[in-house]
Amino acid sequence: MPKKSNRKTISKVLFAKLRTAATQAARRAYCPYSHFPVGAAILTADGKIYSGCNVENASYGLTICAERNAIFQAVAAGSKQIAAVMVYTPTAVPSAPCGACRQVINEFGAGAEIYCVCDGEGELRTSTKELLKHAFGPQNLA
Ligand code: THU
Repeated sequence: MPKKSNRKTISKVLFAKLRTAATQAARRAYCPYSHFPVGAAILTADGKIYSGCNVENASYGLTICAERNAIFQAVAAGSKQIAAVMVYTPTAVPSAPCGACRQVINEFGAGAEIYCVCDGEGELRTSTKELLKHAFGPQNLA
């Protein structure tokens, strides 16, 4: 018998909703410098979905990634527990969240599922635990 993963994965319906939200968000990306649009959608523990896109700046370092933008939307609306993150890029292969975004995801979703989708067939299904092993987090400051 293959070993069954004890990961709590989301339903196909929720997956599709998150994918749509992330794809629509990517259309609103402001990326005149990189020309690399990214859309992210967050599923919170209370079942709400928040989305965000990357927003660049002429002072490049001020750019905010789609994932952090979506997370900050959720927090600003009062939802601080992330169950899942969906990242969409209009590319042939999926893109995983950058290191800074992994750290911010960990703050609110240490147990979150992370899904990365694109226009190609490839898909990455992973988790905060996998992407940020031995994370520094709120527990270290407790
Ligand atoms: N970007 C994201 O939005 N999320 C990531 O996880 C990686 C990178 C954005 C930042 C910048 O606008 C563009 O992609 C190229 O780095």
